[in-house]
Amino acid sequence: MKRIAVIGTGYVGLVTGTCFADLGNRVICLDIDAEKIERLKQGIIPIYEPGLEEMVRRNIQAGRLTFTTSYEEAIPNSDIVFIAVGTPEGVDGEADLKYVEMAAKSIAEVMDHPIIIVNKSTVPVGTGDWVADIVNRHKKNDVPFWVVSNPEFLREGNAIQDFLNPDRVVLGSTDREAAEQVAQLYLPLRAPIMVTDLRTAEMIKYASNAFLATRISFINEIASICEKLGADVKEVAIGMGYDKRIGHHFLDAGVGYGGSCFPKDVKALAHMAALHGCHPQLLRAVMEINRDKRREVVQKLRDLLDDLNGKTIGLLGLAFKPNTDDMREAPSVEIAHLCRREGAYVKGYDPVAKETARKALPWMEQAADPYELAKGCDAIVILTEWNEFKHLDLKRIRELMRQPIIVDGRNIYEPEQMAELGFVYRGMGRGYNGRRKTEHDERPSNTRPAPATTPTE
Ligand code: UDX
Repeated sequence: MKRIAVIGTGYVGLVTGTCFADLGNRVICLDIDAEKIERLKQGIIPIYEPGLEEMVRRNIQAGRLTFTTSYEEAIPNSDIVFIAVGTPEGVDGEADLKYVEMAAKSIAEVMDHPIIIVNKSTVPVGTGDWVADIVNRHKKNDVPFWVVSNPEFLREGNAIQDFLNPDRVVLGSTDREAAEQVAQLYLPLRAPIMVTDLRTAEMIKYASNAFLATRISFINEIASICEKLGADVKEVAIGMGYDKRIGHHFLDAGVGYGGSCFPKDVKALAHMAALHGCHPQLLRAVMEINRDKRREVVQKLRDLLDDLNGKTIGLLGLAFKPNTDDMREAPSVEIAHLCRREGAYVKGYDPVAKETARKALPWMEQAADPYELAKGCDAIVILTEWNEFKHLDLKRIRELMRQPIIVDGRNIYEPEQMAELGFVYRGMGRGYNGRRKTEHDERPSNTRPAPATTPTE
């Protein structure tokens, strides 16, 4: 049993604190938001994350998990302090570290015994050293402390599973003994633990997220090419994935990545690179492709409807991905704005992201279910691949729509099936778009016409 404090009760902080409590440690979670802490004390969590509320309540009842707004209460009673505060996007894509700075100062001011400060927030390379500097400048006693970087790789919607079954645990520190102490916390998870230096650990987080974002932009670029050449990107991805060096994960083409991490982290890495004289050409391309994918959806609507002015567009799925209510960098936000700007009436439906969508798109009407959404629509755009959208009564949907047009930004339906149901259907990178190739189709562009002298069949 260790005595742990976690600063910040966002996704990462709350999941980290609760899971460590569930593993038998005594955890105190701190946030400067008093209202949030009051609700957490009653077991009410501020985010939608499957299984988390139940786990929070169980550990509060067991007396292992408590909440506070006070550093005086949290720090003197803990040996390991995790910083898991937000690092929002600042100027020019640079990560804004004001919350990390506030946490480091506040820890330093009340520190009265040796502690290990572990940074879990995604922070620019070099932040660990900067945190050590801040603590040194603000500490009131001469007690020793150590800084460890421990990036978090959990995904929203799958956070508990990811925390408890990590592919790896990365720990970076200038002091191996401090890193080993933190490693002890993770031993019950039986995951590979990698101990390295501070800056390398910080870089592993950025490089991992940037690589995953690159895979998504790569397959999205292939999707655009597939569409022009009459190939099906879904099958291309399956065929590629059988190669063990490639694998099947993270090759789903669609409207591009969103959320609180990929957009911000790729931008921050590109910014860090440029600041230090590198030319992050690949990272820039990854971001451009991601931006263009959202615009491509609107272009598909223009192609199908001629003009968006006066048309009704229904957005099916608003969260940036399923199993979350998170609207941060959700493609739905930009697509809704673009459609509205061209004079369309936009409405939306999401099974979970209702309140968050209301905040992100306050002007948008929200339907009570997919069928109400379909009523009077000239086109429906699928933007989140929620399971409940995979088995809709599509015949009913078609009858409710003014025009049977579906742009499937997540490729959840099959083009041929949709054509049979009478829809005008466009997926992302699905070359056939609902019609079988016929002998009337064009020749592939790289097939040379036969020379005039060659006898033809
Ligand atoms: C991500 C990382 O996976 C996680 O390791 C890190 O800690 C935080 O950022 P998260 O943002 O929760 O996690 O979502 P993730 O499931 O990775 O999806 C990110 C985005 O990529 C979503 O918008 C999703 O729709 C998109 N995506 C993912 C695709 O478009 N295609 C894919 O094949 C996979």
